[in-house]
Amino acid sequence: MDPIALAVIGGTGLYRLAGLEDVEAHQPPTRYGALSGPVRIGRLAGRRVAFLARHGEGHSVPPHLVNYRANLSALHALGARRVLALNTVGGITGNYGPRVLACPDQLIDYTWGRISTFCEEPGSEVLHVDMGDPYSPALRREVLAAALAAGVALVDGGCYGATQGPRLETRAEIARMRRDGCDLVGMTGMPEAGLARELGLDYACLAIVANWAAGAGPQVDELITLDDVLANVAAASSGLPVLLEAL
Ligand code: HPA
Repeated sequence: MDPIALAVIGGTGLYRLAGLEDVEAHQPPTRYGALSGPVRIGRLAGRRVAFLARHGEGHSVPPHLVNYRANLSALHALGARRVLALNTVGGITGNYGPRVLACPDQLIDYTWGRISTFCEEPGSEVLHVDMGDPYSPALRREVLAAALAAGVALVDGGCYGATQGPRLETRAEIARMRRDGCDLVGMTGMPEAGLARELGLDYACLAIVANWAAGAGPQVDELITLDDVLANVAAASSGLPVLLEAL
């Protein structure tokens, strides 16, 4: 059987991969416990592609309780080496308004209390992986080229700030993140990117902007509702099938 060409991890509002055919579900046991749900492996554009819904297919796992180690180690064990993470985010700076797709190139981690490494077990080697470029430059280039080929607008670069959630941020927190240099805010970017690096996976993020982060939009006191988030994710995701096919 040919190797898995790409694994896709879906975020909030993205629980199935459109266009994936001849799908088989795999849920391999891992030493880290249960995955968020089945890994669905099928064919897309003639290649083997895997899909995993990060929050479970019924969106039942909150960001701080996602078993990031189990998810990534299972994808790795199934043979995936390139992972595209789809992350639903809020936009902080001007180019990252609702319904924008972006491929960030930097990341700041504000999460706490999450297991963020594979090297905790007694006797395991301690790794200090390089995270200067948190996302694989090679995979980012391919994602950007695929978007261009598919005619899908995709912002090149930006800094993703990973917050703890599941609550949204205060306006002061977003103002601080803007001062720190963040363009996007989401709850699942870390420890996923760091764990992927520890496993040697080629990992990149495709961020889907669902809303202006708190106080970041034109209407400073605008409430962020789940209905708006889901409507914007659905609209922004319309270009994803052709982008993934090109990739
Ligand atoms: N903040 C954090 N995570 C998010 C947001 C947000 O505004 N929107 C979608 N995911």
